[in-house]
Amino acid sequence: MPSTSECAIVVLAAGAGTRMKSDRQKTLHEIGGRSLLSHSLHAAASISPTHLVTVVGHQRDQVSPAVEEIARQLDTDILQAVQEEQKGTGHAVQVGLAALPQFEGTVVVTNGDVPLLTGETIQSLIDAHRAASAAVTVLTLDLDDPTGYGRIIRNAEGGVEKIVEEKDADDIQKSVSEVNSGVFAFDAAVLRDALTRLTTDNAQGELYITDVLAIARGDGNTVSAFTAPDARELAGVNDRAQLATAGKELNRRLVLRFMHGGATIVDPATTWIGADVEIGRDVTIHPNTQLWGSTVIGDGAVIGPDTTLTDMEVGPRASVVRTQGELSVIGADATVGPFTYLRPGTELGEGGKLGGFVESKNAKIGPGSKVPHLTYIGDATVGRESNIGASSVFANFDGVNKHHTTIGDYVRTGSDTMFVAPVNVGDGAYTGAGTVVTKDVPAGALAIKEGRQRNIEGWVEKNRPGTDAAQAAQKAREN
Ligand code: UD1
Ligand code: CA
Repeated sequence: MPSTSECAIVVLAAGAGTRMKSDRQKTLHEIGGRSLLSHSLHAAASISPTHLVTVVGHQRDQVSPAVEEIARQLDTDILQAVQEEQKGTGHAVQVGLAALPQFEGTVVVTNGDVPLLTGETIQSLIDAHRAASAAVTVLTLDLDDPTGYGRIIRNAEGGVEKIVEEKDADDIQKSVSEVNSGVFAFDAAVLRDALTRLTTDNAQGELYITDVLAIARGDGNTVSAFTAPDARELAGVNDRAQLATAGKELNRRLVLRFMHGGATIVDPATTWIGADVEIGRDVTIHPNTQLWGSTVIGDGAVIGPDTTLTDMEVGPRASVVRTQGELSVIGADATVGPFTYLRPGTELGEGGKLGGFVESKNAKIGPGSKVPHLTYIGDATVGRESNIGASSVFANFDGVNKHHTTIGDYVRTGSDTMFVAPVNVGDGAYTGAGTVVTKDVPAGALAIKEGRQRNIEGWVEKNRPGTDAAQAAQKAREN
C-alpha cells in the first residue's frame, strides 16, 4: 500500500563518463576497495528505501553485473532501468521512475559518481524536505571554486528559483558559489508531472533534471535547498584527478574511523584501508601499510611497516612485518615477515612462524610450526610444532601436475631439504641437510642422502695455479 512516508532512491549511472578517458565505465572505477557505484549504493541502501533503482546504459554489459553483485553483497533488491540513449539526467530519471511500481511519497535522486555521500546525509535531506513540506529539495554545497557545477539561483527573498548549468550560465550566474550536488528529494507526483515538461532547449541539448526546480516553482510548489554540512562529501568524480582526491578523502575518513575504534595508526597519510576491512582493538598499524578487501585484523595484532594484505584474516596478537599476503589466514600469536609472501590458501596456525624470504601457497601449517628462513612451501600440510629447515623447497610441480606434501607433528627437517611431492614425512621424523626427499619418511626416521662427500687434495693448486685461491691454499698448507 503506497503511503507518503515511502521513499524511492534513483541512482544515475548511465552516463558515458568521457572525462575519465577509460574503457571502464566511470562509476566502476574504485576508491577504498569499492567502485564509486558501490559506495553510492551502500549509502542509498543504508536508509532502507522502499525501492532502490539504478539507471544503467553506457557500457551496461559492465555495469549491470556489477549492480547484481552489489545487491548480493548488500542482500537487498536493486532494480535496474536501462537508458538506451543518454539524453541527459532528466531523461535518466524518467527511465528510473518508469521501472518503479505505482508509488507515492519521496523520490531521492543521486548520482553514481558521488562516492563520499553518506546515508546520514541522504536521511537529513529527506527529513528537511518533509519538514518544509517541499515539493523539491536540492542538496547544495558552497564551493570556493564552483566551476563545472550547476549554480543555485535564488530570488531577492532567498527562495530557490532554478538551477543553471555552467554551460548555460552568464557571468553573474557563474559567480554564484552555491551549487547543485546532483542529489535531490522530490515529491513523486510533482516529479512525474514535471519530467513530461522538460525540454532540450539548452547548451548541451539534453533533458536536465535540474529544470524540474523551475517547473515545480512555476506551478506554485515549494522548492527549497538543504546545504550539506561538509562539501567534501559531495565531490563528484568526473576524471582521474577527482578520483584520486575522493580516494584520499575516503581514506582519511576510514582511517579516522578505525582510530576511533581503538587502533593505533602511526601514520594515517601512508596507511590505506579499504571500506570492507575490519580492525580490532589495540591493533597497531605501522607506516606504508595497505589493507584491502575483506581483511580482518584481530585484537592486539601489529601490522607493518610496508605490508599489503588483501582478503586476509589475521589473528589476535599476531605480528606481520614487511609482508605481501592474499586470501590467507594468520593464526593468533603467529609471526610473519620480514619479506614474506603469502599466496592464496596459506593457513598459519596459532603461534606459528613464516620468516624472512619465505613464500607460501595453499599450505596449512599447524600450531607452533615454523618455516623460518628462505623457503618455498606450496601444496603442503604441516602438523603441529614442526620446524622446516632454512632454504627448503616443497617441489610441488612435476611439469604437468601439482602434488601435495604432508609433514607430521614434531618433525625437524634439515636445511636445504627438497620435498619432491607427493611425499609424506611421519611424526617426529628428521631429515639431514641437503636431503632430496622422494620417498615417504616413516615416523621417527632420519632421512639422509646416500652420496658421500669426497675431498680431492691439492685440486686447486693443480688446476687453478696462480689464482688468489691457489695462493691462499698454499699459504694455509705451509702454516
Ligand atoms: C550534474 C548536474 C549539475 C551538478 C552536478 C553535480 C545536470 C544537468 N547537471 O552535472 O547541476 O552540479 O551533476 O555533480 O543534472 N547520467 C545518466 N544518463 C544521462 C546523463 C547522465 O545516467 O543521460 C548520469 C551519469 O552517469 C552521472 C550523473 O547522471 O552519474 C550526472 O551526470 P554528469 O554528466 O556527470 O553530470 P554533471 O555534468 O556532473
Ligand atoms: Ca558528475
